[in-house]
Amino acid sequence: MTDKCADLPVLSVKHLSIYFGGRGHAGLQVVNNVSFEVRAGEIVGIVGESGSGKSQILLSIMGLLPDGGRAAGSVRLLGREILGLPQSDLDGLRGAAMSMVFQDPMTCLTPHLRISRQMTEVLVRHRGMTERAALSAAVRMLELVQIPDARHRIQFYPHEFSGGMRQRVMVATSLLCRPAVLLADEPTTALDVTIQAQLLKLFADIAAEFGTAILIVTHDFGVVSELCDRIVVLYGGAVMETGLAPDIISDPQHPYTRGLLAAMPGLHQTPGTQLFTIPGQILPGANRPGCPFCQRCTDKIPVCATERPVLRAGSGRHIACHVAGRAEVVA
Ligand SMILES: Nc1ncnc2c1ncn2[C@@H]1O[C@H](COP(=O)(O)OP(=O)(O)OP(=O)(O)O)[C@@H](O)[C@H]1O
Ligand SMILES: [Mg+2]
Repeated sequence: MTDKCADLPVLSVKHLSIYFGGRGHAGLQVVNNVSFEVRAGEIVGIVGESGSGKSQILLSIMGLLPDGGRAAGSVRLLGREILGLPQSDLDGLRGAAMSMVFQDPMTCLTPHLRISRQMTEVLVRHRGMTERAALSAAVRMLELVQIPDARHRIQFYPHEFSGGMRQRVMVATSLLCRPAVLLADEPTTALDVTIQAQLLKLFADIAAEFGTAILIVTHDFGVVSELCDRIVVLYGGAVMETGLAPDIISDPQHPYTRGLLAAMPGLHQTPGTQLFTIPGQILPGANRPGCPFCQRCTDKIPVCATERPVLRAGSGRHIACHVAGRAEVVA
């Protein structure tokens, strides 16, 4: 990775909105005007509760929104606009320039095919390799993600691996073509704590070694605090707060971020004490007036119910809040 490369956003998402049903901008809006960038070697975390729109953001980047889903805005991969590209063009990018790993590895591994076949197929298709060259490249990739005895185990079927090992196989498969961007949707949620820590280290190694831009979505602030350089805090489909991970974790400003962090054992709380949970639940429909978090916010003032706060700079990060960081607003 060159210095020049490190300065260019590999993935640039601007004003992304996602709708289900209806036409044009009608229908249910589940993501509202979300913007962020991921640079080479950087790990950005999107964190938010269930239903906040995390998965739909990743799926829209991959061009894999479910039926009835529509995305508006811009997604640039290495400077090229990819939102709305025909499926045939996206097929050429998926698994090559961008890859995605899921919470459940069986989402992308085929149960009745040996891992060798699944991995070599990617290299033969996207890289035009011979079977033989593809097999040795696949073994090397399994070794890189620390699958013991990879030369032998590459002939296993997916069910012959443990859950943690299957995740590693999926990560290895997603990395075969050295994608510029790796998208990960809750990749560690189903794993026990030790395996989770190993997988997080693997992501950090991949970003550092290959310069891969990694975008990881999670509802777990523990994951972002361990792994991420920058954080996007999402609520009701909108960005509430975004900035450098250490800044946000040491000094959360948005009432929602403060609530999420208070719910995290070990960060702002003595382990073993009662976890704080934010009362209420996420309401669907990111196109309602006012702040999406208003109903659950303890700091709200009257304007929060009627006017959507815009994302503005303050305290070394960006916050969308009528109350938080007001004194330090610079733009
Ligand atoms: N096919 C669909 N049709 C209509 N609405 C949908 C569809 N898929 C998702 N949604 C809605 O989009 C919103 C965001 O969903 P999304 O799956 O992105 O949430 P998430 O943040 O990934 O949640 P989780 O942590 O549970 O995975 C939710 O309100 C959900 O109900
Ligand atoms: Mg999800």
